[in-house]
Amino acid sequence: MGNLEKKTALVTGASRGIGRATALALAAEGARVLVHYGRSAEEAEAVVAAIRGNGGEAEALGADLASADGAKSLAERVRAIVGERLDVLVLNAGVSKAARLEDYTTADLETLYATNVRGPFFLMQQLVPLLDEGSSVIVVTSVVARTVIGKPVVENPSIMAYASTKGALETLVKNWAAMLGPRGVRVNSVAPGIIDTDMSNFTKTEAGRETALSLQALKRIGKPEDVADVVAFLASDKARWITGASIPADGGSKL
Ligand SMILES: NC(=O)c1ccc[n+]([C@@H]2O[C@H](COP(=O)([O-])OP(=O)(O)OC[C@H]3O[C@@H](n4cnc5c(N)ncnc54)[C@H](OP(=O)(O)O)[C@@H]3O)[C@@H](O)[C@H]2O)c1
Repeated sequence: MGNLEKKTALVTGASRGIGRATALALAAEGARVLVHYGRSAEEAEAVVAAIRGNGGEAEALGADLASADGAKSLAERVRAIVGERLDVLVLNAGVSKAARLEDYTTADLETLYATNVRGPFFLMQQLVPLLDEGSSVIVVTSVVARTVIGKPVVENPSIMAYASTKGALETLVKNWAAMLGPRGVRVNSVAPGIIDTDMSNFTKTEAGRETALSLQALKRIGKPEDVADVVAFLASDKARWITGASIPADGGSKL
């Protein structure tokens, strides 16, 4: 018997990378999983097929979380499926960008904040009525919310704007945990280090791999499953006394 039997989970950005691994991990613990995607419909359907193939329950739901009404329309469809209660909400979907300070544009900042902060904020607003005693919210942030990675000189590209969106999420996690604690709802973040996904393409080059390993105590590149297992733990009742926390899943980055 899994830790999440009879529970329903929504995982945003579950078509690829960390979200995909999380959807599979939650399903392996017995949860019915709503596999959200943005553009990658085929990949999301493949995740659903994999879960069903293992005897689990899953459904794919598409919505652009960077659009003004994306969160609302996703929440409406989630409500139509789950009814009154959502047990697990994983706010994972996100985008990144590296650029020199002088090269950032207004559009870059709008996309980063719309996807990484506004989308999760309004999804939370819309789904909060479905969260009740025992529900668990997990927000995927990043080690860069608290740590500067790379060589911080003005001439170098940096993910500073992306990092600031993750800092905003970490702040929201604390506020949401305080707000929803009296209702018995837990809210935590998982802060990954460098994980081998499309977002961290640079780890596929030898130089990128060496840079990543030089930051970490554990000397391999992190895998999506390394993060997904932490999310599955936080989603379960085994984490019943943890709320408002940020759990690193980063192989000991920049200790
Ligand atoms: N990889 C890392 O090293 C790393 C480290 C720390 C934190 N993180 C965080 O972990 C989370 C997952 O990242 P990942 O590495 O798994 O990235 P990824 O492989 O690029 O996957 C990103 C996911 O987010 C979805 N998404 C992006 N923009 C969206 C939008 N506008 N509307 C709806 N969905 C959207 C994508 O959906 P579609 O493809 O369907 O559009 C995809 O499923 C992100 O929040 C990221 O910031 C990653």
